[in-house]
Amino acid sequence: MKKILVTGGLGYIGSHTVVELQNSGFEVVIIDNLSNTTFDVLDKITSITSIKPEFVQIDLKNKKDVLQFFKNYTVDGVIHFAASKAVGESVEQPLMYYENNITTLTYVLQGMNANNVSNFIFSSSCTVYGQADELPITENAPTKPAESPYGATKKMGEIIIEDTSKVTDLRAIALRYFNPIGAHETAKIGELPLGVPQNLIPYVVQTAAGIRECLSIFGDDYPTPDGTAIRDYIHVVDLAKAHIAALNRLLNKENKAKCEFFNIGTGTGSSVLEVVKAFEKATGKKVNYKIVDRRTGDITAAYADTTLANKELGWKAKLSLEEGLASSWKWQESLLNVNL
Ligand code: WQD
Repeated sequence: MKKILVTGGLGYIGSHTVVELQNSGFEVVIIDNLSNTTFDVLDKITSITSIKPEFVQIDLKNKKDVLQFFKNYTVDGVIHFAASKAVGESVEQPLMYYENNITTLTYVLQGMNANNVSNFIFSSSCTVYGQADELPITENAPTKPAESPYGATKKMGEIIIEDTSKVTDLRAIALRYFNPIGAHETAKIGELPLGVPQNLIPYVVQTAAGIRECLSIFGDDYPTPDGTAIRDYIHVVDLAKAHIAALNRLLNKENKAKCEFFNIGTGTGSSVLEVVKAFEKATGKKVNYKIVDRRTGDITAAYADTTLANKELGWKAKLSLEEGLASSWKWQESLLNVNL
């Protein structure tokens, strides 16, 4: 049985990917520092798959611990999620982001290299494209100057893995996520609401639940059909399955370059107002909202051309926006029950 290290494996996308790895017959060891999640996610994963992943609490900023991990554990590949991901926070605290997202990446890659681990999946983001000149966005679209230190760490991360793959045995795939949404159908894992939500869907869900009074829609003066900005919202379970497809490509040595890049989205764009309407339709819940000024750094529209991932990874998103939104609401209801 192949063993895979998942860094950040107790996080939102990480935990859903651990479930799909176990469903696909992989053994999983998780590294997480619990800075943006809770330890009980491990039990929730176990309750879904009936297989308890190994868990090692390490802060990847501790180089000694990272290098020691790779001496203690023999793994066949690494899926690297561990990173900070709040765009606004990254603007306030750039050095924290560069240390937590870049320095740690170099330690993981050094640990892999010292112990002949060559298969690496990197959590990247469509943010590297900025406002693309053409839509839908292909992998050949030029990357643009980052709008935030968070976005810069994704761009730098891709450069680091590509440069390293040229002179070591590293074989890497960077998955450029569009907008992850939703939760596992069991509602046992999902996006933990730690603090005021920065992203749209958690804010919509918490408004519907009465936790937030009113959703602020950041601008309705964009050059789009209804004036609100357009994004490609992909169900986190579809996103998790893309990691399995990418991992198998590397394990089967089917990669066509030492470092490859794939857009992981649905290929469909939805505006903020369309998302609100779809949520209300999918859940029967009302969402109070008001239109306010645009948020600095936001782009008008982004949605993926998924031809390459469909063809090369044999992967395609299957779950709809409504299914994603309904699963987000079911997850929120499960949290409300816990909090009662
Ligand atoms: C989506 C749309 C907002 C909140 C960022 C990162 C990306 C990834 C996902 C981490 C935009 C609008 C939002 C609100 C609103 N990061 N909005 N009111 O900015 O597309 O992408 O998060 O994984 O790399 O760049 O996502 O959910 O913040 O915004 O009107 O309260 O919803 O203006 O148009 P974004 P988002």
